[in-house]
Parts: sequence; C-alpha cells; structure tokens
Amino acid sequence: MGDLTDKVAIITGAGRGLGREEALQLASQGAKIVINDINLPDAEEAANATVEEIKAAGGDAIAVFGDCADTADSEKLFQTAIDTYGDVNIMVNNAGFCRDKTIFGMSDEEFDSVVRVHLRGHFVNMRNATKYWREKAKTGEQVYARLISTSSEAMLFCSPGQPNYAAAKAGITAMTLGTAQLMIKYGITCNVIMPRARTDMTNQGPTAAMFQAPEEGFDLWNPENVAPLVGYLSSPEAANISGEVFVVWGGRVNIVQRPTLDKFYDNPEGGKWSLESLHNSLGDYFNDDHTPVVDGFSVPPQ
Ligand SMILES: NC(=O)c1ccc[n+]([C@@H]2O[C@H](COP(=O)([O-])OP(=O)(O)OC[C@H]3O[C@@H](n4cnc5c(N)ncnc54)[C@H](O)[C@@H]3O)[C@@H](O)[C@H]2O)c1
Repeated sequence: MGDLTDKVAIITGAGRGLGREEALQLASQGAKIVINDINLPDAEEAANATVEEIKAAGGDAIAVFGDCADTADSEKLFQTAIDTYGDVNIMVNNAGFCRDKTIFGMSDEEFDSVVRVHLRGHFVNMRNATKYWREKAKTGEQVYARLISTSSEAMLFCSPGQPNYAAAKAGITAMTLGTAQLMIKYGITCNVIMPRARTDMTNQGPTAAMFQAPEEGFDLWNPENVAPLVGYLSSPEAANISGEVFVVWGGRVNIVQRPTLDKFYDNPEGGKWSLESLHNSLGDYFNDDHTPVVDGFSVPPQ
C-alpha cells in the first residue's frame, strides 16, 4: 500500500513544520526526496537535518536551497532533482510565511511578500512540473505524476486578519483545480490540502493557544498527523483522486465541496436589470432576517 519505490518527490519548505513531516512520510513510502528550503542559515540547518534523518532511516534525500518563488531558483531545484535522481514524480508545494495584518493596516511589502511566496511560489514550481510531465506524456511515455498544493482554511473563512494570506491561498486553490482539469488526460493528479498543525507558523500570536499539545492523549495538532494524506494522494492507490480539496488535521480528513453556484434569479421583466427589478428579486432573498456576516468567519486557523 502506498509504495513509492523509485519515485522522486520535491517538497518546498521541507526543513521544518509540515513540509518536514511530509518529506519523512514520502521517504518512508520509498520515495527519493528533494528537500527545498530558503537559503538562510537556520533553514539550511533544518533542511540538512531532515536529509540526515531520512538517510539514517535508510532513505535517500538531498537538500537544494533557494527561494521557492524565484524562477531561477525553482528551475535549479527541478533540474537538480532530475540530475540527481533522473526524474520527478511528486511535486509538493508547501513553503511559505505569514505577515498578518488587517487590510487597513497592511503595507505593500506585507501584501506582496506573502502573495509572492505562496501564490508565485506555487506557480513557478507547478509550471516546471506540469511542463515536464506534459512533454514526457506527449512522447507516449507513461507518466507517474502527483501535484499537491498547500492552501488554508483562511481561504474558506476569509480570515479577516490575513487578507494577503487568504487571497494567496484562494489563488492557489483556483490555480490547482484549473491545472487538474488540464492534466487529468495524462493521468496526472492535482489536489489541494488545507492543513492545521502546530508549527513555527502557528506557534505564536493568536493561534498559539489553540495549537497547544495536550498533557496526555492524542495530540490533534502534531504536524505528523497531516503527512499521511500527502502520502496517500501521492500513492498509486489515489490515481482517480484529482481536483479535490481536503481539510486535514488530527485524525480527520474533511473533503471540501468545490466552489459552486447557489440560487439564481432571472430578470422577470426580461433583458437588462433595473434597480427596482433587482431589489424586488434580491430584496426578498436578503430580507430583514438575513445575517450579513456568517458565523464561522471569525474562526482563525492559519
Ligand atoms: N500550520 C498550520 O496550521 C497551517 C494551516 C494552513 C496552511 N498551512 C500552510 O502549510 C505550509 C507549511 O507551513 P508550516 O505551518 O509548516 O510553517 P513553517 O513555518 O513551520 O514552515 C514553512 C517552511 O517554509 C520555508 N520557507 C519560507 N519561505 C520560503 C521560501 N521563499 N522558499 C523556500 N522555503 C521557504 C521556511 O523556512 C519553513 O521551513 C504553508 O504553506 C502554510 O501556509 C499551515
């Protein structure tokens, strides 16, 4: 079950947190692991430690340092995987950071840097992987390929203290589901996870209390709880799962309904709406009992 022997996986931001657990998981299933993290001393140290942990357990891994959102660095990451292991089969986009502020207090830099690391970080690595897989498939070669993106419930709840992050995660979700539509004809699957776990990202600020480990019993927020789903989506057994979004934490996997259309109105007068005809239609729906802000929007998972 879940055999990934001879498969090659790239995971961005895999020195720490969820990426590290996902690297250990895929290595335990037999994959060769290419660990990316940013070229800063503490991140490099963490990535090297993950490599050593995989090797100590009998696996095979290398670290490639660079910015996941930089075109040249991402191309170097992909090429190093090919040069070292001869192929890439699994691309897990995971790296990122937060700069939380409300919209009225957010600087250009806080907005741009978060959208860049998450959304552009996914884009450049998804482009490398899908281009490579598509070209291979077009030569008639059988391609084994899995793409896994990391979004967040911040997108579902539209996290009001994270407009940069929630927007980036919404973009990642849309981009991955669109890519899934293009790639399924080659047998390539593309899915999205929305994890929750105690990591450097959540172990500070308002979320720190929520993610505390219990004194005894099952630790719901241990990041290792998220990794089996990534292992499963990467596996041969998950060949027919694509274009799906999963919330995952503790012992739970929650399948997210794809965004869809709700109730609709056609202008009863025909043609272009007037303000009066719109009000007659929508006014009934959004009546005095309608609550403008839905309960749950204030739930703050990262
Ligand atoms: N922890 C949660 O509850 C939670 C919830 C929802 C989504 N996520 C998402 O999961 C992913 C992993 O987050 P985490 O909680 O493990 O955080 P983390 O801070 O523990 O790990 C993030 C890793 O990404 C690396 N990184 C940052 N910028 C990078 C860059 N430019 N290039 C390469 N690597 C870079 C960091 O050095 C770090 O090792 C993120 O995409 C995050 O948004 C986490």
